[in-house]
Amino acid sequence: MRQTVQTLQAKKEQGEKITMLTCYDYSMAKLMDAAGLDMLLVGDSLGNVILGYEDTISVTMEDMIHHTSAVARGTKDAFVVADMPFMSYQTSVYDAVVNAGRLMKEGRASAVKLEGGKVVCPQIQAIVQASVPVVAHLGMTPQSVNTFGGFKVQGKTIDAARKLLEDALAVEEAGAFAVVLECVPEKLAAYISSQLRIPTIGIGAGAGCDGQVLVYQDMLGMFSDYCPKFVKKFANIGAFMQDAFRSYCNEVKTGQFPEKEHTYQISNEVMQKLQQEGEQQ
Ligand code: KIV
Repeated sequence: MRQTVQTLQAKKEQGEKITMLTCYDYSMAKLMDAAGLDMLLVGDSLGNVILGYEDTISVTMEDMIHHTSAVARGTKDAFVVADMPFMSYQTSVYDAVVNAGRLMKEGRASAVKLEGGKVVCPQIQAIVQASVPVVAHLGMTPQSVNTFGGFKVQGKTIDAARKLLEDALAVEEAGAFAVVLECVPEKLAAYISSQLRIPTIGIGAGAGCDGQVLVYQDMLGMFSDYCPKFVKKFANIGAFMQDAFRSYCNEVKTGQFPEKEHTYQISNEVMQKLQQEGEQQ
């Protein structure tokens, strides 16, 4: 069944957890969709895991549209959320609406996600008014890494916890239909989840959220540059892939691959004729 803002809201109301993973391409989208993921996030984390940047700052609208459209083409049922990259919405409400529109029209996303609380509420309001569903993102928001001075757990002091709760209530009021909570202490995330009508999706925010999201390369053991504490490896695909790549190199070098079954044939007559023609010249 195709997931919608309404079906996701119903999950919160019925206490059913929402499942989300990041996704950046067509073939992975088909696998995740068939596996029954509720939501696929075309995260600007593609800057790290696909493009090899050290953070998400350099990711462009063109990068996001390119990957979002690939994911949308591979999806039948899952709800596709596209991240708004750094400086595609912070600059003005106008830029936010135009760029959210591009992610919907060119990327064929079902919704957009942007980082921040009260400060981006005018943008959230305007995007929602333009009929684009919005997911907000609070806590450790990677686009603010230079302000935070690194990737750190957020909301640990009373002031920070209060601000996080106020921001969550503000983005809900502005019209966001879900909130990602990243690197937030579990009791705080559970409390915020209980205070909001809309679903919270946690990443490093404990089991009290209404859903969970992970970067798929992390949960499949495919990315070794760093691994946050909150990641559980559900498989070690990276090691399987390396084994397969080694076997391929070995079989190509030793002539074991390709075999007859991987090869196209031509009739002996045609080959003989070609060779005779070559000898006559
Ligand atoms: O870009 C991303 O992958 C994200 C998740 C970490 C929530 O925003």
